[in-house]
Amino acid sequence: MSAILEREPEIMPLTAAAIAPEAQARPVIELEHIHKTYVMGEVEVHALRGVSLTINEGEFVAIMGTSGSGKSTTMNIIGCLDRPTRGTYILDGQDVSRMSKDERADIRLQKIGFVFQGFNLLSRTSAFENVELPMLYSGVEAAERDRRGREALASVGLEGREQNHPNQLSGGQQQRVAVARALVNNPALILADEPTGNLDSRTSIEVMEIFQRLNRERGITLVLVTHETDIAEYAKRVVVFKDGKIRKDYRVNNQRNAAEELKNLPPVQDDDDDDDMAEIVQE
Ligand SMILES: Nc1ncnc2c1ncn2[C@@H]1O[C@H](COP(=O)(O)OP(=O)(O)OP(=O)(O)O)[C@@H](O)[C@H]1O
Ligand SMILES: [Mg+2]
Repeated sequence: MSAILEREPEIMPLTAAAIAPEAQARPVIELEHIHKTYVMGEVEVHALRGVSLTINEGEFVAIMGTSGSGKSTTMNIIGCLDRPTRGTYILDGQDVSRMSKDERADIRLQKIGFVFQGFNLLSRTSAFENVELPMLYSGVEAAERDRRGREALASVGLEGREQNHPNQLSGGQQQRVAVARALVNNPALILADEPTGNLDSRTSIEVMEIFQRLNRERGITLVLVTHETDIAEYAKRVVVFKDGKIRKDYRVNNQRNAAEELKNLPPVQDDDDDDDMAEIVQE
């Protein structure tokens, strides 16, 4: 891990000038002096020890740091899956730190899309049905579900794969279904915890291309946890955790461009094989 952190992207300190473009933007995430303590019998684990972090609308932030430094704990709080022990969390102008479980579930459904390392797709249902699920929970009617589900799958390059089950899709395609599912309720914020952790390097770039496009074209705010400096360089800003605190916070000077990189990679010719496989499995 330390070896990875030593090779940092070109950095610029986060001065007023550096944050100027986003200074006008509305904060989406405001964490103020957040502490999280897990009590396990006699033992207290101080997972977060005073984290303050503001992320504005339209930012693309990579969270890095050693194992156990508090990245997932922070993501769980940002994603309203868990509450801080102390401190305040304002999400999109609303104080969510003291909301009930049900209220947080509503907020989550309306405002946040999640993408996980292990894809977390339901294995016995099709790509379309996986994407449809958040819309079922939020009471979207059938015709609208159909329209939005197809559109979300098309936007991640999976047109025509609506009926494939996860085991009929490659790892990268499964992660794209998960991204489509995260998108389908039109969230203000997408949270991704090591979304490329199980993917090879080309497929990782393909997923990062989708994230960069969503951020650039639709202004979606993105927060992504990664262990890989290479992946963090696709973001605009990097926040590094250590021992439950933020140790560094800097802007990426030379942001990588996934779309450009993909153009320069040799083409892959596995699509026909994929189709044959899908037909065989379906028979
Ligand atoms: N549910 C829990 N109960 C008790 N301790 C926990 C719990 N979740 C996390 N911890 C502890 O809190 C600390 C921070 O964990 P966290 O999962 O946030 O780390 P992380 O930075 O995401 O690590 P990794 O890179 O390994 O995913 C660790 O010491 C961990 O053991
Ligand atoms: Mg983690």
